[in-house]
Amino acid sequence: MRVTDTSDLWWKTAVVYCLDVETYMDWNGDGCGDLEGLAHRLDYLAELGVTCIWLMPFYPSPDRDDGYDITDYYGVDARLGHHGDLVEVIRTAKDRGMRVIADLVVNHTSDQHPWFVSARSSRESPFRDFYVWADEPPAKQPEPVFPDQEDSLWEYDKKTKQYYLHNFYKHQPDLNVANPRVREEIAKVIGFWMELGISGFRVDAVPFFIEQPGFEGPHDYLRSLRSYIGRRSGEGVLLGEVNLPYEDQLKYFGGLDADDELTMQFDFVGMQQIYLSLAREDATPLADTLAARPALPEVAQWANFLRNHDELTLDKLTEDERQEVFDAFAPEERMQVYGRGIVRRLPPMLHGDPRRIRMAYSLLFSLPGTPVLFYGEEIGMGENLDLPGRTSVRSPMQWTSGANGGFSKADPEDLVAPVTGDGFAPSHVNASQQRHDEGSLLNFIRLLIQCYRNSPEIGWGRFTVLEQPDRAVLAHQIENGQGRLVALHNFAPEPATVRLELEDVEPGTVVTSLLDADEYTWPEEGPFEQPLDGYGYRWLRVIRPGDQRLT
Ligand code: NOJ
Repeated sequence: MRVTDTSDLWWKTAVVYCLDVETYMDWNGDGCGDLEGLAHRLDYLAELGVTCIWLMPFYPSPDRDDGYDITDYYGVDARLGHHGDLVEVIRTAKDRGMRVIADLVVNHTSDQHPWFVSARSSRESPFRDFYVWADEPPAKQPEPVFPDQEDSLWEYDKKTKQYYLHNFYKHQPDLNVANPRVREEIAKVIGFWMELGISGFRVDAVPFFIEQPGFEGPHDYLRSLRSYIGRRSGEGVLLGEVNLPYEDQLKYFGGLDADDELTMQFDFVGMQQIYLSLAREDATPLADTLAARPALPEVAQWANFLRNHDELTLDKLTEDERQEVFDAFAPEERMQVYGRGIVRRLPPMLHGDPRRIRMAYSLLFSLPGTPVLFYGEEIGMGENLDLPGRTSVRSPMQWTSGANGGFSKADPEDLVAPVTGDGFAPSHVNASQQRHDEGSLLNFIRLLIQCYRNSPEIGWGRFTVLEQPDRAVLAHQIENGQGRLVALHNFAPEPATVRLELEDVEPGTVVTSLLDADEYTWPEEGPFEQPLDGYGYRWLRVIRPGDQRLT
């Protein structure tokens, strides 16, 4: 597909910020974050440069999987507020230039969802076929996603004497997407939230959702969802969670030519290679992976991230590589989970080293694609290892150095989750102090976002890895008709020298360093050389004649 009007494709150059309302800002003092609290923090997000807020599940839920176990797809969890509060958030965000997308969790419901309550009451229930039942579980089963909690994907229902499928926890029965009535219900849910002003969805667990026993044409279904969304709203986006190798991910975009399934997908493979490169202080694993990452059709986009709300999964690395990353960043058993992941945030993994942390974020924002931040990353929050498993990174947002990090006025024991302690406690890490400190991480991230938003080639351009003599250095170039950005990142603590040989750059061309406004001239002869500090980074705009952008 050739796109002529690029301005419609907002997701190609967006800055996505993921948050859980529950842990973001408590306005009524009950210890649980709420939509009103979020509304009061929208200016903070706009000031940071965020253009799209991804709301983690806010629906009614028994909360056994942090809201990913839903009992009413049309509701708002009463602890967070009501529909009116949500609409206020969406409207105010729009006013500040930010869109809102929501988690769409339709692989499964909670076992307390009225559909499942009815389905399991009798084999004759009108909702029985909303779920997947079998007399016997298959002899061969994949390993459960949460192997510490589950030992099978099938749970026996005593009353109706059949097993039901649950790819995740047993309290999350899988919906039967092969049933047209289920597909109809899903469409209505999507339509409902879009009418309220939601600009699209982060689609949970896509392969589990569409690839079901007996369901023919899963990709036809995904295609039909995409076109349905497009009919309802031209700006509707589907950002899919598809943790698969690149060649399989391509199918979820609809292939190279069609471009008609998911609009965006997280780059899980690239993310894992970033950590391997960080652990080895060697950029080659990431450089090789990025060079092999499929170039996407024009409308589609990669969503790049360093951390999310789940474990930092290392499932796509070899066992030895995974061990290397564990040794470097999660040496204690309590820092690991499921034998494949890490339950820490980035700054503690990098021992709080500001140079290295900044290098990692500079890399994130310079990678071809759309960056996604998890709340608190912009201020360098740490994890709370006293909290179990994946929840260690879901502690309350740290706004001030005061009680409860300014998250809530409730008694600390009434908080929805305890605030992080130790070196990453609110007294050391909070948004308020960092807003007033020019040299803070928050202001650095703001600068990165500003440079990213001023460099649309990052979202749109052709990407090339530029070979370097020093293995520690990743040099990459992204260019489109309007501009060329060259980004340099040194993964090692030792200084390095970068050599750039770009045949199509004229001698005398001006090169501007975007993060610090230094200016250079491309030499008459020989390569363009740049020194990089240990863990150094640079964004260089190679100015074309006629380029009138602000630097
Ligand atoms: C993926 C979500 O990211 C995760 O947090 C959740 O536990 C599973 N889906 C199951 O809903």
